[in-house]
Amino acid sequence: MRYPKLPASLFIRNRKNFTLKMEPNAIAIFTSNDIMPTNADDVMGFAQNNDMFYLSGIDQEESILLLYPDAELPENREILFVKETSDLIKVWEGDKLTMEQAAEVSGVKNVKWLKDFELALQYMAFEADIFYLGHNEHKKTTTAEMLTRQDRMITYCKEKYPLHDYKRAAKITRELRQIKSKEEVDSIQKAVDISIGGFKRVLKAVKTGLMEYELEAELTYELLKKGAKRNAFLPIIASGENACALHYNTNDHECKDGDMILMDFGVCYANYNSDTTRCFPVNGKFSNRQKEVYKAVLHCLKEGSKLLKPGAVSAEYEKEMAKLVEEQLIGLGLLNAEEVKKQDPQKPLYKKYFMHGTAHHLGLDVHDVGLYTRPFEAGMVLTCEPGIYIPEEGIGCRLENDYLITESGNINLAAEMPIEIEEIEALMQRD
Ligand code: GLY
Ligand code: MN
Ligand code: MN
Repeated sequence: MRYPKLPASLFIRNRKNFTLKMEPNAIAIFTSNDIMPTNADDVMGFAQNNDMFYLSGIDQEESILLLYPDAELPENREILFVKETSDLIKVWEGDKLTMEQAAEVSGVKNVKWLKDFELALQYMAFEADIFYLGHNEHKKTTTAEMLTRQDRMITYCKEKYPLHDYKRAAKITRELRQIKSKEEVDSIQKAVDISIGGFKRVLKAVKTGLMEYELEAELTYELLKKGAKRNAFLPIIASGENACALHYNTNDHECKDGDMILMDFGVCYANYNSDTTRCFPVNGKFSNRQKEVYKAVLHCLKEGSKLLKPGAVSAEYEKEMAKLVEEQLIGLGLLNAEEVKKQDPQKPLYKKYFMHGTAHHLGLDVHDVGLYTRPFEAGMVLTCEPGIYIPEEGIGCRLENDYLITESGNINLAAEMPIEIEEIEALMQRD
């Protein structure tokens, strides 16, 4: 493993919290994600199902967690099924979890091989009334068109046990996962800390004529070297006008003298993610106009992030942030104050230069699960990421930090990542 094991107590607590929200006499089943194929016999890197990880700490394919808190036999109240390892698997793939290791990681005492799952379930289904099954219910899910391992589990259970009641495990996990425990915050903080090193390395490397992907290489080198599992998402390294494409990530343009680069990047550490954005000039000195736009966005970040506190509601927060950006757009001469006063509230003029939300939950997912109608509470971790995009001027600027909501306000987990214009220019100075 690339990171020190998270304590099993975290997963034991998570399971306890989950089962407390289950209805009586119900079984919950969670599965690992599939390893996704590419072509021929090759596959993409494995990404664990995050509910499965949250409740078990198991970061291996072909694993199933079964929770049945009201089972008559105490040993059936929690069972973890893992892929049976063998000498042959060891030769080809290396070590897989033994039963003892799986028990140690997860804190589940009863570990079985995966091949025993169906029969074990049959015995328990006879006794139980309800199934809780996992499903990707994220509002922007990209798995809607394909059958995931979770979907196949739903089909399997419903065919074999058609007369049981079925419930959504995600309704419980999305609520629990919104509030991070100390171990989770520590992992996100570690991800942020690694990303700070990555950003500084990029600042040292950048110069006119480099390709954006060369900066991606510098960033990725640093984060892997420091124990990250991977980039949290394909980093956006967008110079000049490319920064106006919100999810640009081909990173295949030359960094030109006079352009500003927007770098939106995250680190996945111990399966927890950071998500930060910084902007910096290719030649080490912001132009006057870049400075104006940058200062405007920084003002929105500083003022807007103060609104991330207990009791605030996402929709209201986003409205306040939009007002802040609107004011700055007027100051930058991009919007006319009189026209703004007369604008159709359904089609506000600021949308031309600022077209995205600015606070999402962050955790095991970069855009973490959870209802946005729930007011902010201590223990939530949210990003704050205002931006202004002016394609006609070749400038796109977004600044993004990660904030832990506390009882009294918030803590900026990325406070140590340079953000002031002078700091960035100083770090870019060449001897
Ligand atoms: N990196 C994606 C986002 O900022 O939400
Ligand atoms: Mn981001
Ligand atoms: Mn973000």
